[in-house]
Amino acid sequence: MFPQCLDTLLKHDIETFNHCIRVANIAKWVGRCIQLTEYEINDLYDSAILHDVGKIKIPIKILNKPGPLNSNQMKLIKMHPAWGSELIAEKQIKNGILSHHEKYDGSGYPYGIKGKEIPLNGRIIAIVDSLDAMLIKRPYRKNLSLQEAFKEIEQYSGVYYDPDIVTPILLRKKDFKHNFYTISYKELSDKILLNSISV
Ligand SMILES: [Fe+2]
Repeated sequence: MFPQCLDTLLKHDIETFNHCIRVANIAKWVGRCIQLTEYEINDLYDSAILHDVGKIKIPIKILNKPGPLNSNQMKLIKMHPAWGSELIAEKQIKNGILSHHEKYDGSGYPYGIKGKEIPLNGRIIAIVDSLDAMLIKRPYRKNLSLQEAFKEIEQYSGVYYDPDIVTPILLRKKDFKHNFYTISYKELSDKILLNSISV
């Protein structure tokens, strides 16, 4: 089931596909930072690689719209966690996909759940998802430096992000730099796809 979903995503939108690959690999590193078991890390990786797979139902012109979205387009975008989770049967993986846009303070979607009510995989993916979005350059906006991106994550620790995950990540910031940032971040997807980075 996974390769088929991902294959569909790759054909639909390569940017989102590459984002999922990067998020999965970085989430795996986060899993190690917070000392999850290998079994839990495997579940986390699967949730993370599939977290945006629901976007296959969203027209590409909305996904790649450079300007602000109107309310109907925003409604569609906000459906992607539910649509993605519907494609997956395994509970932990499904929950991670469904909850990756929830925020620690309850201001996220689809349910507005907060704190540790949000499944762990969702809390981890939320951080990595933001980190990746900040680090990658898009045609319509500049990327942040690694320093700036980590500062942003730190600033919203306990607000959007689980502090029990943020703190260990910040302690291993240099490790992140070594694994993911010694090459241009733009090249990361291709490098991961070629399996030239092991995490
Ligand atoms: Fe998403």
